[in-house]
Amino acid sequence: MPLTLEPITPALGAVVQGVDLSQPLDAAAFAAVEAALLEHQVLFFRDQDITQAQQRDFAARFGPLHVHPIYPHSDEFAEIMILDTDLNDLADNALWHSDVSFSETPPLGSVLAARVLPDVGGDTLWTSATAAYAALPEPIKQMLAGLTATHDLAKSFPAERFGADPEARAQLERAKQNNPPVTHPIVRTHPVTGLKAIYVSEGFTTHINGLPQDVSDSLLSLLFRHVVRPEFTMRWRWRAGDVALWDNRITQHFAVDDYRPHRRVMHRATVIGDRPF
Ligand code: OGA
Ligand code: MN
Repeated sequence: MPLTLEPITPALGAVVQGVDLSQPLDAAAFAAVEAALLEHQVLFFRDQDITQAQQRDFAARFGPLHVHPIYPHSDEFAEIMILDTDLNDLADNALWHSDVSFSETPPLGSVLAARVLPDVGGDTLWTSATAAYAALPEPIKQMLAGLTATHDLAKSFPAERFGADPEARAQLERAKQNNPPVTHPIVRTHPVTGLKAIYVSEGFTTHINGLPQDVSDSLLSLLFRHVVRPEFTMRWRWRAGDVALWDNRITQHFAVDDYRPHRRVMHRATVIGDRPF
């Protein structure tokens, strides 16, 4: 069955039909998914009944998988990260971010499967950082060229969130030691399409290198606001069986935290990417 695509907004997002992620995709089907991802940046697959192993195997077609230094993972597979409101405070996901940008080689993409959903609420938003970059006035683009910024895990995982539990605190300390702050260009280039994208996010970017902190704060605030203008974004209302796949190099996302005290469980498989340039 050929794959069909239904775009969600002009900026990004498409619903994919004709793909069963519980089966290994043949080369042509996988190439079609890859092409769709390049074009639409975030893809949604409905009515998927996939095991953790199938989710991991699909993600692994794109490259080696990442194991998160803080979030728990499934008992069976370290590569299946668990976002469960019963296990963790997920406050850092209710903030615009690109996953794991605190790494030297941040993820190229993620595969997120909805496992337990509230009846209403718990939507996720994505924004296209390429659309946002393209819309910047030329003088601003010129000003950003060559600038770099620091990304720090500690910004999204502050010690207060780990309470008094010594084990959780020790894990955070280990995660910080293993993931010291990194520098990335403020504008990165997609390695395949060549499109430029704004690559700073509220989640992890702490400052623009070489600028006084107040100037850096002002410029970052301008970019954080610009990158999430509604015309660059989309919002997804999850249904049971939904699986999302996003290009994490050129998008940011935000998990709306509006459904407590209901439980929400998502499983993520995360594909390691290249060093941003
Ligand atoms: C993630 C994330 C969004 C969500 O998986 O990286 O931010 O809706 N989750 O749970
Ligand atoms: Mn995320």
